Amino acid sequence: MTRLPRFVRMVEVGPRDGLQNEKTIVPTAVKIALVDRLADAGLSVVEAGSFVSPKWVPQMGDSAEVFAGLTRKPGVRYAALTPNLKGLEGALAAKADEVAVFGAASESFSQKNINCSIAESLDRFAPVMAQAKAAGVPVRGYVSCVLGCPYEGDIAPSAVAEVAARLYAMGCYEISLGDTIGTGTPAKAQAMIAAVAERIPVDKIAVHFHDTYGQALANLYAALQMGVAVVDSSVAGLGGCPYAKGASGNVASEDVLYMLNGLGIETGVDLDRLIAAGAFISDAIGRPTASKVARARGCA
Ligand code: HMG
Ligand code: MG
Repeated sequence: MTRLPRFVRMVEVGPRDGLQNEKTIVPTAVKIALVDRLADAGLSVVEAGSFVSPKWVPQMGDSAEVFAGLTRKPGVRYAALTPNLKGLEGALAAKADEVAVFGAASESFSQKNINCSIAESLDRFAPVMAQAKAAGVPVRGYVSCVLGCPYEGDIAPSAVAEVAARLYAMGCYEISLGDTIGTGTPAKAQAMIAAVAERIPVDKIAVHFHDTYGQALANLYAALQMGVAVVDSSVAGLGGCPYAKGASGNVASEDVLYMLNGLGIETGVDLDRLIAAGAFISDAIGRPTASKVARARGCA
């Protein structure tokens, strides 16, 4: 076990992972205001949208307009999901600072989410990697279903490690390990991270926990103990995945920050401003916040 990291980079995925799962389409102006508020709270990476098929995920159909409307803050990277070359072209035109390809450790989930096998997805990512590199845009790699799949159940750590290693070898600068359905528990998370860390350096690993079973903060702490220092989270606990039933709720950014602050780990993020951003979006979509910290601080 290593010492806890001194600094953790928080990657805010609420405007993408959160809002992609909203049944109602959130107005573009609200999305823009949310991203700007998150940047003002001190987050250095904000996933602002995705360039995927609007037939598959209509909620993200206005990502080009969202990027066009942002007030870009120096030092902040505005990121977008890009499953294929068409997506990359959209993201480059929108001047995304970084993009992400997303694969899965489960064959069934890969089919449901991106309509192809794991092997086919990696083939599809190769030209995306090449063109992004030519454009000087860093690419992040996501692996979904790292601690369980809605269709296949348990997923072997070796399967996660294989996909993570392939994405890293293709040139992804960081691999985000997603517990898409939030069924993981700390010992399982540590075993999975240990398997991945045998294949790629631990400082290239990010964790992406969903709180469906209330395990996200415990899993996160277990990951920090393994030396992981990049954490994905979603303001107000927005989120889920349209192709993973029951995957409601990314871990809330406010709750992650409260824990990191308590551990004396630096992030550069301001808790009050983050809570205010969460209150803004919860109000706009008419749903109570899923952040316990925000509720404890009086947000509805
Ligand atoms: P497909 O139907 O197999 O692709 O979809 P296709 O190439 O045959 O194209 C079909 C149609 O989509 C065509 O339009 C294309 O032009 C269009 P038509 O001719 O029928 O009018 N199209 C696009 N339009 C806009 N942007 C694009 C694009 N690509 C094709 N980039 C595809 C394959 C991957 C596109 C589709 O399955 C898709 O968009 N899936 C979206 C999946 C998604 O966004 N899932 C949620 C994000 S992943 C996630 O949340 C997990 C994560 O958070 C980690 C975790 O929690 O574990 C990252
Ligand atoms: Mg997710």
